[in-house]
Amino acid sequence: MTPTQAPAQTLTQLDHQHLWHPFTPMRQWRQSPPLIIEQAQGEYLIDTDGRRYIDGVSSLWCNVHGHRVPQIDQAIRDQLDKVAHTTLLGLASPPSIQLAQQLAEITPGQLNKVFYTDAGATAVEVALKMAVGYWHHNGQPAKNTFIAFSGAYHGDTTGSMSIGYSEQFHHAFRSMVFPVQFVPAPNTCHPPPGFAPANTPLPTRPNTAAPNHPWPSEDPSLTHALKEHSLAELDRHLQQHAHHTAGIVIEPVMQGAAGMVCQPPGFVRGVADLARKHSVLLIADEVATGFGRTGKMFACEHELDDSFDGPDIMCLAKGITGGYLPLAATLATDDIEQAFCGQLSDRRTLYHGHTYTGNPLACAAALASLDLFKTNRLLDHINQSAAIIAERLNTLRDPDQFPHVVDIRQRGLMVGIELAKDRQNRQPFDPTQQIAAKICLSMRHKGLIIRPLGNVIILMPIPAMPHDTLTRMLDIVTESIRDWQDWPTT
Ligand SMILES: Cc1ncc(COP(=O)(O)O)c(C=O)c1O
Repeated sequence: MTPTQAPAQTLTQLDHQHLWHPFTPMRQWRQSPPLIIEQAQGEYLIDTDGRRYIDGVSSLWCNVHGHRVPQIDQAIRDQLDKVAHTTLLGLASPPSIQLAQQLAEITPGQLNKVFYTDAGATAVEVALKMAVGYWHHNGQPAKNTFIAFSGAYHGDTTGSMSIGYSEQFHHAFRSMVFPVQFVPAPNTCHPPPGFAPANTPLPTRPNTAAPNHPWPSEDPSLTHALKEHSLAELDRHLQQHAHHTAGIVIEPVMQGAAGMVCQPPGFVRGVADLARKHSVLLIADEVATGFGRTGKMFACEHELDDSFDGPDIMCLAKGITGGYLPLAATLATDDIEQAFCGQLSDRRTLYHGHTYTGNPLACAAALASLDLFKTNRLLDHINQSAAIIAERLNTLRDPDQFPHVVDIRQRGLMVGIELAKDRQNRQPFDPTQQIAAKICLSMRHKGLIIRPLGNVIILMPIPAMPHDTLTRMLDIVTESIRDWQDWPTT
């Protein structure tokens, strides 16, 4: 009997003996048997006992068209019949060339050059090097630091950890990270200290005069004030430090791992204007937001206008292969790439790469995925799904049934439902109480898998999820929050 044919009990033992799971407190993990997913079909994951669960986390935000999609399966098989892997160091391959051309075509602005890696973090890592190298080779080596936004998450390699530093997650590695200037993100639920509109209470009783009282993230005056505050802080910093700043890194429109912190309309454009005004590069990390998640192919597209035609560098991963295989891409303008070209003696080459860079199987999957966007008119479907989500989650406004829901933040299919002790003060639950995690875990018994982030319940439905499954998912979520009995009292 090989381990993959072993009964779940044996697999549990082997898992506990040998596997170190990512982002997982391992001592606690080993206290109960893991849910072992053996197969999947469409939008369902299937465990070793044959139980089916809606994949409400899109297999960590990457699945796009569902699982075992015939067209993507076939594209990978076809490529497998040719070759599984060849290198891009000194050689080229048809799928990687074709995909680069298509990515250049569908991304906004002047992004014409594609550099492949294999994870969101490495896509960001390359972006940082491109930015610093760009200024270095253009005779401005002092422009070598970065600005990021509070709460940002860009991955777990050293550079990406630096620009997404979190005391909670990274304190043991503080000595490894380089200094980064963090500008406050326009976070309506947790605004910067001393920011007055933060204390605007939500109604605690059903408010017949204003049944659709806005969540903090929908409050026009609050979001506007926070946007202006954030942009003013950015401008202030750039006025003093632009001469040693290489770039601003932003998760455009929605900061995902921060707990779905959405930005007011015009924010990305405002950041782009300041980047241009102060001559620093704008790096859009679309690892989570890319490939339709926010209702457009790329989140930056929500913000395009006459003065902003796209970022200087864009990082893509997760959904790029439809969620099938590890692949990432960092796109840059011709101007940026040109800075790395010259005589060999100029020493401009970007000496960076990974063994599996541009893996042909992954690129073939990505090409098939892009085809499906068109044939299935997926963006239309996503926008219909987003409207269904918004409509269904309206029920959570009722303070009698949902006294612990204090904000709902949604952009397309990225949704955060924030829980707190009460609506009046929005005092967060102690994170060690794991309240959102416990509620999410309870949903597994009803056939749904989702993962929280701190006190925020995260919904990340598969973009191609049929509307009846989506509705079922939303019903499970709302019922589970409404019926939860075990709210912490301290
Ligand atoms: C915005 C963003 N950037 C980068 C990453 C890192 O991607 P990966 O886990 O593929 O390294 C993530 C992962 O969630 C992300 O949300």
